[in-house]
Amino acid sequence: MTKRVFSGIQPSGIPTLGNYFGALRSWKAMQDEYDCVYSVVDLHALTQRFDPDVLRSRTRYLYALLLAAGIDAKKSAVFVQSHVPQHCELTWILNCYTMFGELSRMTQFKDKSQKQPENINAGLFDYPVLMAADILLYDSDAVPVGQDQKQHVEIARDIAERFNSVYGGIFIIPQPMIPKIGGKVLSLLDPSRKMDKSDPLPGAYLSLADSPDEIMKKCKRAVTDSGAEVRFDPVGKPGVSNLIGIYALCTGKTTQDVEKEFEGKGYGVFKPAVGEAVNAVLDPIRRDVDVYLSDGSQLDALMREGALRAKAVAEKTLTRVRRAVGLAESAHV
Ligand code: TRP
Repeated sequence: MTKRVFSGIQPSGIPTLGNYFGALRSWKAMQDEYDCVYSVVDLHALTQRFDPDVLRSRTRYLYALLLAAGIDAKKSAVFVQSHVPQHCELTWILNCYTMFGELSRMTQFKDKSQKQPENINAGLFDYPVLMAADILLYDSDAVPVGQDQKQHVEIARDIAERFNSVYGGIFIIPQPMIPKIGGKVLSLLDPSRKMDKSDPLPGAYLSLADSPDEIMKKCKRAVTDSGAEVRFDPVGKPGVSNLIGIYALCTGKTTQDVEKEFEGKGYGVFKPAVGEAVNAVLDPIRRDVDVYLSDGSQLDALMREGALRAKAVAEKTLTRVRRAVGLAESAHV
């Protein structure tokens, strides 16, 4: 049996080049080996406040981006979370098998409560249970996530194990899967931090939706270190090393190759070359996103197809769950 992979991406911002190499590129690669289910998790995004039109258009943008980044809607089920209401139903049921104490210990809940003290809503608290429902609905074996989401996959495992210990083998127990990126992408303005799409300074990150000019400008303005040598030394020369890492990721070269290529050439030659390498990766993606977004009814049709495919699996799992807990499932409409 082919193993099932599930992952989700929130439409809470436009992904960065770091998100592309850290997540989307491996999502694409996994399609060859696994039965993949990928979701734009718009319900999770409601835990923060967004302009409704922005959220809606970003959800569509992100869906188009997944396809443009090489996720094949014929191979994988690609859908928008809110199109499959089974996620909400399973969340409620799982809520009753999740403890207040364990949700209180989630580090992301604590972080986000500090970041938005004016809006510590119940959804923010319950976020991990919705995520557990996402994962468990599809009998997922593996869940590719960044290090920051590992704790959420672990609580999904705990909830599933608790449920199974009462009702028998209802859920598959999922494993977190931390993709190897082969390089971290750091902020262009402060290489002691991760490249972050919600950085207040747009010059700090390369957004997948940036124009070729913006990419070039941001690369040229990236902080570099004293000296003029293009040398990979993350401790002594964090700024240049980050750019070397980015160039290596974009071209598939090793950091040593990059050092050799720019030996004796200096930052003035190297920085625009980084901009060009990034644009060479982003050009076809930007072009395909535009194609998908330009035909709204075609995009709707793809979304509907993905949702139907996901729903068929989700409903099967949910039927098992309703039956197990004692809901009057035999007359369910
Ligand atoms: N919480 C994840 C993030 O912010 C997104 C997500 C929601 C997810 N549901 C998921 C990831 C299920 C993996 C599996 O990155």
